[in-house]
Amino acid sequence: MNLHVNIDHVATLRQARGTRYPDPVWAAALCELAGAHGITIHLREDRRHISDRDVRLLRQTVRSKLNLEMAATDEMVGIALEVLPDLVTLVPEKREERTTEGGLDVVTPSDGLRRACQRLGAAGIPVALFVDPTREAVKATHALGAPALELHTGDYCEATAARAAVELDRLAVAAEDAAALGLHVAAGHGLDYPNVRPVALLPGIAELNIGHSIIARAVMVGLEQAVRDMLAILREGERVA
Ligand code: PXP
Repeated sequence: MNLHVNIDHVATLRQARGTRYPDPVWAAALCELAGAHGITIHLREDRRHISDRDVRLLRQTVRSKLNLEMAATDEMVGIALEVLPDLVTLVPEKREERTTEGGLDVVTPSDGLRRACQRLGAAGIPVALFVDPTREAVKATHALGAPALELHTGDYCEATAARAAVELDRLAVAAEDAAALGLHVAAGHGLDYPNVRPVALLPGIAELNIGHSIIARAVMVGLEQAVRDMLAILREGERVA
C-alpha cells in the first residue's frame, strides 16, 4: 500500500500569517525521507493554501510522485500541461467549501471534465477522477477514459460505528470493480490513524492520499514521525492481508 501525503495544510499554516514559513517544499522532503511514496497538493482556484510558486518548486524537488489535485478548469489544465506532474487528480471544487465535498459527477460529466480528461490524457499525464464509491461512478470513470480513480472515503470516515461496515463494503465493491476494469485505484479523504487500517486492507486499492491527520499529528510529534506512524499501520495491514 503506497502512501501519498497531502501537504496542503503546511501551506494553510503559512497563509494564516502571510509568512514564508512553514514551507511545503521542505515538508515534502521530510515526508519523502520518512518513506512517503508520493506528495499530493491541491492548487485551488482561490489559492487559499498551495500557491503557483509551490507547484513549480515542488515539481523540481519532489523525487517520488507529484500528484496535483485540481478542478477541471481550463486555467488548471494549462498549469498542469506546463508543470507536468506525475499524476493529476480531478476534484470538484466549490469556493465556499472548507475541503472537497463529495466526488465528481462522472455519470453526467460536464464538458469541462471531458475536455480536461482529453487534454491531460493527450499530453501523457495520467488522470485520476475523485469519485464517490459507487459502481456507476466506477463504470463512468472507465467510460471517460481515465486510467485511475480515487475513491472518496469521507462517508466511511464520518460513519457511526454501526454504519461503518456498510460504508466499508461500498468501498470494497467499488475498488474491486475498478481494479477489474484495469483502473489504478487510490482512496482518501478523512483517513486518520484509528480508521485507516480497514481501508488499507481492501484488495484493489494501491494507494492512499492522506493529509489533515498526518499534518495535525506532525504538530505534536514532528512530520517524519507522523509519516512513519502512518506507514507502520499500512504495513501492519499488509502482513495481515
Ligand atoms: N483526496 C482528495 C481528493 C482531497 O481533496 C483531499 C483533501 O484535500 C484528500 C484526499 C485528503 O483528505 P484529508 O486531508 O482529510 O486526509
